[in-house]
Amino acid sequence: MLEPCTYVIFGATGNLAQKKLMPALYHLEQAGRLPEGMRVLGIGRRDWDDETWRKTVEDWLTPRARSGLDAEVFARFRERLFFFQGDINDDASYARLQMLLNGPDYPSNIAFYMSVAPAEFAVVSNGLAAAGLNRDDDGWRRMVLEKPFGYDLESAEILNKRLHRHWREDQIFRIDHYLGKGTIQNILVFRFANLMLEPLWNRNYIDHVQIIHAESAGIEQRAGYYDGAGALRDMVQSHLLQMLTLVAMEPPANLDAECLRDEKVKVLRSIRPIPQSAVHAHAFRAQYGRGNIGKEKVGGYLDEKGVPPQSTTETYAALKVYIDNWRWRNVPFYLRTGKRMAQSTSQISIRFKHPPQQLFRETQIDQLKPNWLLMGIQPNECLRLELQVKQPGLEMVAETQRLDAATCGVSQYGIDAYEALLLDVIDGDHSLFLRFDEVSWAWRVVDPILKVWATERDFIHSYPAGSWGPQEANRLFVREDQDWRNTLEDE
Ligand code: BG6
Repeated sequence: MLEPCTYVIFGATGNLAQKKLMPALYHLEQAGRLPEGMRVLGIGRRDWDDETWRKTVEDWLTPRARSGLDAEVFARFRERLFFFQGDINDDASYARLQMLLNGPDYPSNIAFYMSVAPAEFAVVSNGLAAAGLNRDDDGWRRMVLEKPFGYDLESAEILNKRLHRHWREDQIFRIDHYLGKGTIQNILVFRFANLMLEPLWNRNYIDHVQIIHAESAGIEQRAGYYDGAGALRDMVQSHLLQMLTLVAMEPPANLDAECLRDEKVKVLRSIRPIPQSAVHAHAFRAQYGRGNIGKEKVGGYLDEKGVPPQSTTETYAALKVYIDNWRWRNVPFYLRTGKRMAQSTSQISIRFKHPPQQLFRETQIDQLKPNWLLMGIQPNECLRLELQVKQPGLEMVAETQRLDAATCGVSQYGIDAYEALLLDVIDGDHSLFLRFDEVSWAWRVVDPILKVWATERDFIHSYPAGSWGPQEANRLFVREDQDWRNTLEDE
């Protein structure tokens, strides 16, 4: 049973709270997973009282609650919600907050969730510490930090030092919500609970690996953040590299957070550094122009509110990396992400090599298709294996058959990644959160690319909104028979 606690959300009126945090907490309420007496204190500058906050949350949840907002569940949930008007730059706000939290109404175990701009992490963590809210002599005190953790290696190191002035590592939870997704958690089970995969999981049998995240949405109202970040920082440095570590890691000694993270760090450290002179051979960037998403005409990135007219920020990034260890040497890992793409889909696709002998050359099976193992992350959670089999009939003709795990299909469990992760924070489990060395090695992978791109500000490739991105990105492939696997269906 989880201990009662208080979730304090900085940036409670923002996009993340609206789309992810409050729906996740509500669904945990519905599932009966929130501890008795737990409270959620939203913090923002707006002149709101508890009732305004509760009404706002109700409006947010109405379109987002799975199978509609349940009045009874929400009645329970709203009793947990409170609002605190405060300014993160004002010392007096932290002193008032401290008085409130140390009062009798709030459980003394407290998680502070930083749903604020990354530049403000240090401000809030200092403010909390100055008010003594980092001290855990009476109940635990934890801090959850959203990504990106820094803007590059150097800023990440500075931020980390600042946090450590007042917070111990075991109090810090660096979230990467991809680690809470069903299929991502399944990678470890699938790899390490099945003997048959392990002999094949290496450079002898795997041709290449693709890790792809595409979104049909644009940047929405996030120009302020996104234009300074770009796709490489926003998705690749964090989510995509994390997925890569799970696909590529060695079996950990056990499932302890430290053992798991040790293995992930080993993978990141083994990624072959990309020298600045080789950036163009390894990385490709582009920006969406005007186009159509389904039947709707949409503007380009430069038409988005708040984006400077000359911006060359990438909304699409593709990257080729190699992991220089015994298992993976010379197997390309292709990572790709884009906004305003043809569909919203994320998947990991593993292509196996061709059999060594072309036994069927003289038959109608002229060109055998390779085996693929596909791991659908969203919208469908799926594990799919594609095999070649003979078509029924007199002719010797092969076709692709798919073996799907029974869970394939639009996820019937519909658990959002944040639900699992918010509970892990209460439970004090760091397994699905990032240790600083993971973050810093991930920055080392992308830093040379960021540096080169930052100096090339006068041109960026573009792709029409609603497409799968620019053809030119295909230059990353090392062989002509390699191509992007965009969805679970295409071949
Ligand atoms: C966030 C990025 O971390 O992940 C967003 O900042 C992106 O730009 C989002 O849209 C994607 O998450 P999900 O869970 O919707 O795939």
